[in-house]
Amino acid sequence: MAAPGGAGIGPISCPGSGNDAPVFGRALLPHWTLEEGMIFLNHGSFGATPRLVQAEAKRWQSRMESQPVRFFRDELPPALRAAAAALAGFVGTAPERLAFVENATSGINAVLRSMRWQPGDEIVTTSHVYNAVRQTFAFLATSAGVISLEVPLGMPLSDATAITRAIAARMTPRTRLIVIDHIASATAVTLPVSEIVALARAAGVPVLIDGAHAPGMVDLAIDALGADYYVGNCHKWLCSPKGAAFLAVAPNAAVAPHPSVISHGFGQGFSAEFDWVGTRDCSPWLATPAAIDLHHAMGGQALRQRNTDLARTMATMLADALGTQTGAPTGLFGAIATIRLPFAGQGDWVKAHAMRDWIWKNRRMELLVTAFDGQFWIRISAAPYNEAADYEAIPAALLDAWRALT
Ligand SMILES: Cc1ncc(COP(=O)(O)O)c(C=O)c1O
Repeated sequence: MAAPGGAGIGPISCPGSGNDAPVFGRALLPHWTLEEGMIFLNHGSFGATPRLVQAEAKRWQSRMESQPVRFFRDELPPALRAAAAALAGFVGTAPERLAFVENATSGINAVLRSMRWQPGDEIVTTSHVYNAVRQTFAFLATSAGVISLEVPLGMPLSDATAITRAIAARMTPRTRLIVIDHIASATAVTLPVSEIVALARAAGVPVLIDGAHAPGMVDLAIDALGADYYVGNCHKWLCSPKGAAFLAVAPNAAVAPHPSVISHGFGQGFSAEFDWVGTRDCSPWLATPAAIDLHHAMGGQALRQRNTDLARTMATMLADALGTQTGAPTGLFGAIATIRLPFAGQGDWVKAHAMRDWIWKNRRMELLVTAFDGQFWIRISAAPYNEAADYEAIPAALLDAWRALT
């Protein structure tokens, strides 16, 4: 797939589809607009959007501003549904059961705030739940008396199957919903979502999967997973513009979710309600088919496997170099991975952030440093533009940061 005109860069190679050998790593950087001279090892937090996809979003914005009334009234509704159909095909669900939302937080809120809760109803989740989601549970606790139960998973994780058993043990007759990460932010572990859904189904409990990291990182077949609700971000590993995410709902879902913002489409069905939540810039959603095309052009499944392999290999290399361990067996990692740091202390967030900031200021390397279960960790990302050399300087940077700050 060629870069946008005038960018002065070559085509992105299509592994397996032409004569070009697959090209990944720094050679791809000209296709992104990342600041020159830095090493960007945190694609996982907010993604990074390639030029071509940015250009497609700008094209939609120009289209919108050329005749706003015609755009919103006539062009946007079918264009949104066409984009939803392309995304539904990519993630393995039906277009009419997929709606765009701005981000995973918004999709999760739509589900949680559409349910009719009774005081004492329980949500079962894990200690690896994303903090914004935990805060939504806190809101439900104060507004509706809902109790959230976090299954403590600890870190490092040794065994994914133990997670399903631990969730089963936490369920009670008052369990109304299971909320589970597909890929947890804190540990970077891919959770056994199919097994957890099977367990929940057997108990008649609906499941909401937080797949914020999944689209573009792992092979995704949402309908085959069988969860009631699946929320995914496109702006992380699919490289859509920021503000592109989706909510997919199973045909037999317990409750039909409404968007958190109610507008004209109320009562007219799922896509009518979600497709219009007031006047807004929909270009991140409309540019998502271009992000899907680009993902395929970079190899699709081969790209996802390449990123996963790189993250796993680099995690092992870093754990060896630091004399520590990975946050889980590397087979449980996708394109993000966690490694424990060899520093003593309580693993507090203030120090973790100070290390991250020191490394950025002094080494021009964007690296996520976290504190979890009383210890310090790093979470690395392996994006198409990363290569093994990007990770070499991490151990020395961490040791220098620690010395400078203690
Ligand atoms: C597991 C998980 N859930 C939810 C989110 C929130 O995503 P967003 O900020 O796009 O709403 C993230 C973001 O990193 C995440 O990792």
